[in-house]
Amino acid sequence: MARRKISVIGAGNVGSSVAQFLAIEELGDIYLFDVVDGLPEGKALDIQEGAPHWGFSNRIKGFTTSDPEAYRNLEGSDVIVVTAGLARKPGMSRDDLLEKNVNIMKSVGSSIKKYSPNSILVVVTNPADVIAYALHKITGIDPSRILGLGGSLDSARFRTFLSLELDVSPKDVNAFVLGGHGDDMVPFIRYSNVAGIPITKLLSREKIDEIVKRTRFGGGEIVNYLKTGSAYYAPGVSIAAMVKSIIREERRIIPCAAYLSGEHAKHYGAEGIFIGLPVKIGPGGVENIYDVDFEDEELKLWKKTVESVKGGCAKVDEFLNK
Ligand code: NAI
Ligand code: 2OP
Repeated sequence: MARRKISVIGAGNVGSSVAQFLAIEELGDIYLFDVVDGLPEGKALDIQEGAPHWGFSNRIKGFTTSDPEAYRNLEGSDVIVVTAGLARKPGMSRDDLLEKNVNIMKSVGSSIKKYSPNSILVVVTNPADVIAYALHKITGIDPSRILGLGGSLDSARFRTFLSLELDVSPKDVNAFVLGGHGDDMVPFIRYSNVAGIPITKLLSREKIDEIVKRTRFGGGEIVNYLKTGSAYYAPGVSIAAMVKSIIREERRIIPCAAYLSGEHAKHYGAEGIFIGLPVKIGPGGVENIYDVDFEDEELKLWKKTVESVKGGCAKVDEFLNK
């Protein structure tokens, strides 16, 4: 049987980290693409040369896309991870990136549409919920086959901070973060527990609030340390978990940006946007969205994050009609 094929567009920090994690997990052959001459070929070869120690047999190949014909190599990808674009610098919000990254998506998206329109897309480029919307508009791919990174990473951060505070294994911490992958994301306290014990029984309200705040600004905290770019190890493994759930048919419930329509749109009070929701991720992409109930305070936070994602989508419509 042919090995599965996963393409990663953008061979920068996040793209090369995810390529490495996917290779180690032996999820398939990995095709790396980047506009910078030689970068994807070099990164691919570097990862490939570690194979004897890591013990994987997959092939890792790189393609420079200054020649757009290179995108022909996307053909037949089961999953395409999109990380191409600019990353945040200190003092820059994710939304500041929007117009530049939408322009990059015009060329990336048209190549996906031309060469591999049946792939499942995992959108990472920020602001990811809004870029998922842009790629849906540009490629015409069914929205159930488009997922955006946000909650998978934000929940990992939330679980990590809770586990560090409680000095317990992060494996036993269940917590999720919904809404847009921005500073107004919604870490859910009520649905968070340690081996089934609600976190409110284990930590003071002040401590929980501190952890929630740290989670919201988790991306910024790393940017402030690194100064030249943003996080990539935790994002890489958070993406790999989503891809693994697709390729290995795990059907894990991982929060990520998914398209709101029909009954779910009614429940969440927003339609036609991608936003962080609890999603069952499987071989079809988004296989189910779970409707969680909000209490008053949570509903206020939810409405705020919806408004900011909607605002971004309205700007995308403007940029695409220019
Ligand atoms: P990076 O700068 O290291 O890599 C980006 C790569 O994209 C560069 O190698 C660049 O040459 C390439 N690129 C730019 N234009 C391109 C084009 N037209 N075609 C092909 N490749 C192109 O940045 P990094 O750290 O890898 O981040 C990538 C993106 O992912 C950023 O937008 C960042 O904000 C976002 N991100 C999103 C996360 C999320 O949770 N949604 C988490 C972490 C990063
Ligand atoms: C993060 O949360 C930059 O969105 C990226 O680290």
